[in-house]
Amino acid sequence: MCGIVGYIGHREAYPIVLKGLKRLEYRGYDSAGIALYDGTDIKLSKTKGKVLDLEHKLESEISTHGSLGIGHTRWATHGVPNDINSHPHYSNSGDLVIIHNGIIENYGSLKQELISRGYTFKSDTDTEVLVNLIEDVKKNENIKLGKAVQIALNQVIGAYAIAVFDKNKPNEIVVARLGSPLAIGIGEDEFFIASDASPFIEYTKNAIYLEDEEMAVVRRHKGVKIRKIKDDSLVDNYIQTLQLNLEQIEKGGYDHFMLKEIYEQPNAIRDTFRGRLRTDEAIIKMSGVEDNMKKFLNADRIIVVACGTSWHAGLVSEYIFEDLARIPVEVEYASEFRYRNPVITDRDIVIAISQSGETADTLAAIKLAKSKGAFVFGVCNVVGSSISRETHAGAYTHAGPEIGVASTKAFTTQITVLTLIALRLARAKGTISSSEFRHQMIELELIPDKVKKALESDDYVKSIAEIYKNASNFLYLGRGFNFPVALEGALKLKEISYIHAEGYPAAEMKHGPIALIDENMPIVVIATKKGHYEKVVSNIQEIKSRKGKIIGIVTEGDKQVRELADHVIEVPETIESLTPLLTTIPLQLLSYHIALMLGKNVDQPRNLAKAVTVE
Ligand code: G6P
Repeated sequence: MCGIVGYIGHREAYPIVLKGLKRLEYRGYDSAGIALYDGTDIKLSKTKGKVLDLEHKLESEISTHGSLGIGHTRWATHGVPNDINSHPHYSNSGDLVIIHNGIIENYGSLKQELISRGYTFKSDTDTEVLVNLIEDVKKNENIKLGKAVQIALNQVIGAYAIAVFDKNKPNEIVVARLGSPLAIGIGEDEFFIASDASPFIEYTKNAIYLEDEEMAVVRRHKGVKIRKIKDDSLVDNYIQTLQLNLEQIEKGGYDHFMLKEIYEQPNAIRDTFRGRLRTDEAIIKMSGVEDNMKKFLNADRIIVVACGTSWHAGLVSEYIFEDLARIPVEVEYASEFRYRNPVITDRDIVIAISQSGETADTLAAIKLAKSKGAFVFGVCNVVGSSISRETHAGAYTHAGPEIGVASTKAFTTQITVLTLIALRLARAKGTISSSEFRHQMIELELIPDKVKKALESDDYVKSIAEIYKNASNFLYLGRGFNFPVALEGALKLKEISYIHAEGYPAAEMKHGPIALIDENMPIVVIATKKGHYEKVVSNIQEIKSRKGKIIGIVTEGDKQVRELADHVIEVPETIESLTPLLTTIPLQLLSYHIALMLGKNVDQPRNLAKAVTVE
């Protein structure tokens, strides 16, 4: 993973690179570093820890002057997080300095070769191997940096987004990408480099997104020249105008991005169905589906591939697609699917779900499915992301930037998009009546206000968090559409509070987890009125007999569960297929409050990263 930032232009680079790194910390935050060119030499400072630690260290260590700079925030792959393994990395001569996001898989053999030629290494990283490989090529062939980078990258197996400069030619930064994102911001006689556009959004709205296997030489006063790494052919600069604004990537008065994003859900869901859900006309319009309707209607099955929270949204969609559109669905972890030799035909539709659109395993699963002839449809949040470009067609969730590492609004907006697709297909296939179709549309339209209502339980959820914050384990149970919500609730708690939590289908509890239940075990049970209510109530009885502490997520006005449970959190009533959009809200809040009470870093939980661009 990791985040990379660079600047070359007429301003001081340091504040731009530093602020950029803070915005990219969601990509990794176990160490950070910056290298600046001050007009005579490279000034470099790096440290284990967060960008804030770097800021404290750097300002006492080096001069922050210079109009060229690169910076890195790391999520360790090769080598533990420590000062030495942090980026940037120097080449042996000290002339070149590099930052890298990704993994060089053949770094071991390249390293041995370089060692045999006299190179030495300070760190355990693959990145230090790459910068020395570039140096070696440059020296041996006596060529410019750009050419040397190109030749070196042709020897490399793996994934990368890199930025490298040479102190003897401090008017250019060379960048390249394969498998990890890289954007170049084009300002007035200044250029920005970053893993996404957030570091430069207040300076320019014009950006070039490098494609895989492309590299660029970014020259002061001269501009950007892009080439294909493999065959050296020149590529046209395709400059996009960014829609992102600064407000979207700031906390807007909330203490944490996660809380802001939880509270943004009513609007995010509305933005996601706006223009698509046309209740008055009784139509759902999604061009990605419309343009490929034949493929959808002829499909033997849908295979959903995703990771993490997106996989949970995929699981919800299995219930939705099968129930509404009567299309068989399989939901796969992208990481398993890609290595399983799966049976895929050209009558399969693969739906890839990804908030970031950069998850390496999901991207690889897409490529595999395409190679076997499947039609691949993407559901992404980040516009222009790798997955959105790699898929045949797709639909964006319009959630806006999600920065908290624990995914919240991405989940509910993914379910919204998948519901729209399922409803559209159901109508086209005639598997639901026109009145039912209309009814479902109206219910979906009411969801944002109901989410708002569900958010009103915040204080009450906080009081429950206070009671259970010291528990060592949690169990989350749900059935049907809400079984994936139980998984997601448990994942949220694990991710940010580090409390062990397990999600289970409620009825499966008696095949194992019931053995764990005693008076110390809090059990969150989703028991909304629609969907196996009586069965879940029986499960609650079983828990009660074993003295487990029950936190029920129930429909407004519920009486039965209230009598049995220790606490009940109400959510508004809706149709069964839409209950996940409401039941997930208190679970997000519960994990948020517990993590906060335990003093954890809610937005940047340990060991995790927002976009997992390594497999
Ligand atoms: C990481 C994030 C999760 C996310 C998962 C999949 O693990 O921490 O929040 O659900 O990746 O990411 P994607 O961007 O593909 O949805």
